[in-house]
Amino acid sequence: MQPDLSRLGELGNTSVVGLQWGDEGKGKIVDLLTKRFDYVIRWNGGSNAGHSVKVGEKKYAFHLLPSGVLRPECVCVLANGVVIDPIQLLREMDDLMSSGLELGENFRISSAAHVVLPYHKLQDQLSETQLAGKKIGTTARGIGPCYADKAGRGNAIRMADLIVENRLREKLPRIIAEKNRLLSGLYAAPPLDWEPIFEQYRSCGQQLKPYVCNSVHMLHEALAAKKRLLFEGANAVLLDLDHGTFPYVTSSNCGSGLSAGTGVPGSAVKSVLGVVKAYSSRVGAGPFPTEQENAIGEKIRQRGHEFGTTTGRPRRCGWIDLVAVRYAARLAGATGLCITLLDVLSTFDTLKMCVGYKIGGREQAGFDPDAEGLACAEPVYEELPGWHEPLDHLSDLAGLPPSARRYLERIAEYVGVPLKLVSVGPDRRQTLVV
Ligand code: GDP
Ligand code: IMO
Ligand code: MG
Repeated sequence: MQPDLSRLGELGNTSVVGLQWGDEGKGKIVDLLTKRFDYVIRWNGGSNAGHSVKVGEKKYAFHLLPSGVLRPECVCVLANGVVIDPIQLLREMDDLMSSGLELGENFRISSAAHVVLPYHKLQDQLSETQLAGKKIGTTARGIGPCYADKAGRGNAIRMADLIVENRLREKLPRIIAEKNRLLSGLYAAPPLDWEPIFEQYRSCGQQLKPYVCNSVHMLHEALAAKKRLLFEGANAVLLDLDHGTFPYVTSSNCGSGLSAGTGVPGSAVKSVLGVVKAYSSRVGAGPFPTEQENAIGEKIRQRGHEFGTTTGRPRRCGWIDLVAVRYAARLAGATGLCITLLDVLSTFDTLKMCVGYKIGGREQAGFDPDAEGLACAEPVYEELPGWHEPLDHLSDLAGLPPSARRYLERIAEYVGVPLKLVSVGPDRRQTLVV
């Protein structure tokens, strides 16, 4: 049975944001909600994201395409805040089209979105190698170097440049000459030849050209026509460049930043749905106070298939950290919570929730994302009774065991945001509407 989304009431324009370290199940939630919206808009990050959507027996993994593409009546947009790897995007578009879905008028790319080029990926890998013991553990998708060039301006290439041969020809040789000085000087890496790169990216530009537009204008027109907009956050608040556990973060604003990333004012967004895993996971380096590097973490990883959608890396797993989630919910302005992967916890006699930290024996007030402080934080846990009944067949909250209900209620109570959806499996049908 499909979940009855009318029970959510009128959401208005809605933003879906991850409230942990990513992989909360944003893709599933966006796909589910899409039928109530006219537009689905990605506004931050790039192909570092991996959003899985399961429909029946088919599983899709989107890195750049918005998770709304499975509903052709919905317009999907890559807005100006996204950094686009054209090769990855074309690959995803091909995969989608070969599975029988159309991309035409229903897909738009901002002319102001920045382009990830091969030297960005190279810089990402080489810089990680040099960090040695201080690696960030990036996805090696060139995200940081591309956003750095955006902020630096002089060496940036946007979609508007990629699709005009003369603009690309004018910029690329000079930029690559400068990158070569950097690659050889800093990393002793061999130089890049600009011509084959130009040829390959010129061709990508021509293939993507039909989709490129002024997305700000388009979204303003959509707002004026009272179309319903759904914003798909990538990465997550604790990976936010300004508000996450810096430097173990990504290079875009993932919690705040929707307005800058789309040109749509914050006042146009009525609901913010914060997606929260029923436990915690993190890929890459950085502090993770509730991490369980033991049989508990391993059990969660196996039951939750916690291996990265983008890199295949095993995800680090641990108990839910309500201190961090409450901070993230406040930053994102969450108006409702979607708790996902609750079914994974159907195996423990007792569950733990982190409700405070001690640093140097002293209780901390609230969450400070400072990475060095957090690395020394000792979690203060609350224990709740677990349950063993499987949940993946449920279609109604009433079917939840009392301890699972108590667990959910405690999350909403601590975070101070009402519960809206509970997910008990990857499929659209495995969703309970509150
Ligand atoms: P995203 O990056 O936030 O979109 O999340 P990912 O797609 O990277 O990771 C979430 C994983 O959990 C995916 O493999 C989903 O198919 C799966 N998933 C989503 N919701 C549920 C759920 O409620 N239960 C289970 N068991 N799996 C889920
Ligand atoms: P979704 O949208 C999980 C993490 C990386 C690394 C850090 C920096 O699927 O939730 P980057 O390549 O962005 O420079 O890497 O951020 N990271 C994610 N972790 N899910 C994501 O996206 C992530 N996007 C970036 O693992 O620790
Ligand atoms: Mg993911």
